[in-house]
Amino acid sequence: MRLLVTGGMGFIGSNFIRYVLEKHPDWEVVNLDKLGYGSNLANLKDIESDERYTFIKGDINDFELVKGLIKKVDAVVNWAAESHVDRSISNPHSFIESNTLGVYTLLEAVRKENPEVRLVHVSTDEVYGDILKGSFTEEDRLMPSSPYSATKAASDVLVLGWTRTYNLNASITRCTNNYGPYQFPEKLIPKTIIRASMGLKIPIYGTGQNVRDWLYVEDHVRAIEGVLLKGEPREVYNISAGEEKTNIEVVRTILRIMDRDESLMEFVEDRPGHDLRYSLDSWKITRDLKWRPRHSFEEGIEKTVKWYLENEWWWRPLVDEKVLHPTPWKLVW
Ligand SMILES: NC(=O)c1ccc[n+]([C@@H]2O[C@H](COP(=O)([O-])OP(=O)(O)OC[C@H]3O[C@@H](n4cnc5c(N)ncnc54)[C@H](O)[C@@H]3O)[C@@H](O)[C@H]2O)c1
Repeated sequence: MRLLVTGGMGFIGSNFIRYVLEKHPDWEVVNLDKLGYGSNLANLKDIESDERYTFIKGDINDFELVKGLIKKVDAVVNWAAESHVDRSISNPHSFIESNTLGVYTLLEAVRKENPEVRLVHVSTDEVYGDILKGSFTEEDRLMPSSPYSATKAASDVLVLGWTRTYNLNASITRCTNNYGPYQFPEKLIPKTIIRASMGLKIPIYGTGQNVRDWLYVEDHVRAIEGVLLKGEPREVYNISAGEEKTNIEVVRTILRIMDRDESLMEFVEDRPGHDLRYSLDSWKITRDLKWRPRHSFEEGIEKTVKWYLENEWWWRPLVDEKVLHPTPWKLVW
């Protein structure tokens, strides 16, 4: 298998590349990443000398570059995206560029250069919007609440339209919030661990009652491997571990593991459009592809806290005032 991975220098993409190279000795991976602010060469330092791995710095909007790469591979997994909701509030344009136009460019390159290529487009549970009771299935309507999720929803419908009209071999995945090693420090879990270890207050948006369904990154990358190898064209697969937690519960769990006092928690002004609860029904991927998560939240979060505490060399250079700001959605990025 020759695989093109886009956005592979970010959090989940780098975990995915490490996983597939370890699991499949005969696979080759080309990683195309523009090296945006959230990416980090250190994420894949341990495999950079592996002969099966090639890194190319470039943008998925570069049609000629993407066309040339797609010609030479059997499959593409698209992780490339602007991924932080807070930043999408003050700077939506870069989200349209990467998340929507970038996917359009990829689809055009596929249809013109290699329409047989297997394509997995990684999307998010946020495209459905929030849900107060029950869980979204793949049949539910898209009702995004933020510029981030709107640009991801737009990319999903592009993939569906191109796949039907041009008979492409593409599937879409929608997963819940990921956590684990190599996540950029601006996201809730790494930010909480880092701030707690620095003795700083932990900001919690609004009342902290927003619910997210947490998925350990290794379980996510295994699910993508399954969809890549066994998923059907034009099908959408939800991916979740069914580990719903309020933000307060997440922060409390981390503080308990780190043996820090709950008085570190501080409530701050909520971000606009903040979805109250996400919840996915992932029965389809379990039934059709036999995927199940292997980590409970308790296990995954213990491993994650341990990883950040042991790898300060990794996160220390990424931490600045903006990244650790208590209400980053108010900043102009
Ligand atoms: N992190 C989560 O909890 C989560 C949940 C659901 C879905 N997702 C999706 O998974 C994917 C990866 O998320 P992540 O958390 O690893 O994000 P990330 O921000 O850590 O990584 C994204 C990577 O994409 C690269 N990139 C962005 N625009 C690009 C472009 N135009 N051309 C080339 N490279 C580009 C960045 O440089 C970065 O390395 C995204 O598509 C995101 O929407 C993430």
